[in-house]
Amino acid sequence: MTQPPVSPEQRQQLIAAARAVRDKAYVPYSRFRVGAALLTPDGRIFSGVNVENASYGLTVCAERNAVGRMVTDGAQCIVAVAVCTDNGVTPCGACRQVLMEFVPPDADAAVYIIDGQGNVRETTLFTLIPDHFGPQHLM
Ligand code: THU
Repeated sequence: MTQPPVSPEQRQQLIAAARAVRDKAYVPYSRFRVGAALLTPDGRIFSGVNVENASYGLTVCAERNAVGRMVTDGAQCIVAVAVCTDNGVTPCGACRQVLMEFVPPDADAAVYIIDGQGNVRETTLFTLIPDHFGPQHLM
């Protein structure tokens, strides 16, 4: 399955969504705010923030909360991901795996890594999690 190209406008909208939603992160323990946004093939954008918990292990990352919103709204394919943090870090291993679940097996997804100043670094999900285990190994 080929992924539709990400237009410059969609790229900007996705980046803006990740930056904007980050303010809503619930991070009383780490103070580390993460905003994530996903673009689906039909052009919809789903965002999420990290939600921490007093029982620390129950914390859910921003990327996985965005995935939950996407699937709940009936979408199951990711074309591009934007993640915004103060220091511009890449998604954790667990989130890479969960994001890749929704990228078709012969495709890839753009990943925009944004820092607190708005600097953007671009990579892809396959680059972040090569040779991964996925749905194609079970179906
Ligand atoms: N966090 C994310 O939201 N996404 C990641 O990919 C890495 C970590 C959150 C979890 C926790 O609330 C805080 O960042 C510090 O680990």
